[in-house]
Amino acid sequence: MIEGLNIKTLDDVNVSNKTVGVRVDFNSPIDPATKKILDDTRIRAHAETTLKELVEKKAKVVVISHQGRKGDPDFASLSEHASILAKLLPAKVKFVDSIFDEKAINEIKGLKPGEVLVLENVRMWDGETKSASPEDHAKTPLVQSLAPLFDVYVVDAFSAAHRPHASLVGFAPVVKHFVAGRVMERELRALYKVRNNPERPCIYVIGGAKAEDTAEIISNVLGNNIADKILTGGLAANLLLHAAGKNIGEVNVKILEEKGFLELEPELQKLLKQYPGRIVLPVDLAVESDGKRVDVPVDNVPNLPIKDIGVKTAQEYSRIIKESRTVVMNGPMGIFEDEKFSLGTKLVFEAMATSKAFTLIGGGHTLASASKLGYSDKISHVSTGGGALIEYLIKGTLPVIEVLKQYSK
Ligand code: 3PG
Ligand code: MG
Repeated sequence: MIEGLNIKTLDDVNVSNKTVGVRVDFNSPIDPATKKILDDTRIRAHAETTLKELVEKKAKVVVISHQGRKGDPDFASLSEHASILAKLLPAKVKFVDSIFDEKAINEIKGLKPGEVLVLENVRMWDGETKSASPEDHAKTPLVQSLAPLFDVYVVDAFSAAHRPHASLVGFAPVVKHFVAGRVMERELRALYKVRNNPERPCIYVIGGAKAEDTAEIISNVLGNNIADKILTGGLAANLLLHAAGKNIGEVNVKILEEKGFLELEPELQKLLKQYPGRIVLPVDLAVESDGKRVDVPVDNVPNLPIKDIGVKTAQEYSRIIKESRTVVMNGPMGIFEDEKFSLGTKLVFEAMATSKAFTLIGGGHTLASASKLGYSDKISHVSTGGGALIEYLIKGTLPVIEVLKQYSK
């Protein structure tokens, strides 16, 4: 049971000899040319926890996941995911190239205790991606065909928990047991802590190349008094500096304009006024000049691309982080892939690693930067969520969490 949320977990059900449907999120980056999986982190996350446990407890395990979206280059079969899973699990892992037709149903019926069957990409069936209530999804052919075979349904796909899709919520009303898997459980415990009851001071660090959610994150996190301060880097910082009337150089304004971020400025100006001192902006920035890093104060930014927060800013952020008890970070501070501009991100990670704080990071680029700079295992909780994490931080809940709260049994 996850306290506070009243959600049942694998501790609350008997799975031995039972047929267990498990909704994981195997959605992985895929090379558009070769269609090969580029990173197996998400597959590992489920394999090493929930799936291993189910196999060891001798459940008959049916794995359901999506990969990409129809029309996108990363939309692909789950056959390679199944091969990777077979190498990670001490079990027989089969794959079937269908989802809920007779072939799939026969494979499920033929499973022996401790065996695993991976069904085809559930988004190959168009009904999957409709946003609908659990009750409506329960009437779909996916749920109607498979639910009678499942004794237990485990939702483990935290990183897809912002999607009220059929395989995520539709089994809830009809199966006997509907519970959270270990990945979901671990995420919910960590997130509940940082969103509902953070130890203070609580600092949020936002950066990266996506700034569309910046205003919403700031207004929710400060409006609900979750964080004491928000430290900013990446495009979010450039946007806030520009909104605050700083000259950040034409090239940098153009990037914000092209991405449509300038429209957010009136809202950000309001927030800067509403929360003085709590939205922390860089005092200096690093620009690229003739291939070199040059640190400049924010009052004197030349018309050159901004690629990192400046050294003084990074030192100040480190100081604030070291004195805090909770740190949540989403988005690197600069272009960390280029060593010259990885300094800001590195100092933030170093401070997180050495502080006494409970630290949480999430989002594809943040995880990539932590792994490249060698900090992944020095962070208290590395979230598998990108979009799901952001939505949780903004709203304090997600559609799938609400369904688990209502239906876990
Ligand atoms: C993700 O990676 O964001 C999740 O797997 C959900 O996928 P989606 O954004 O395509 O719905
Ligand atoms: Mg997504």
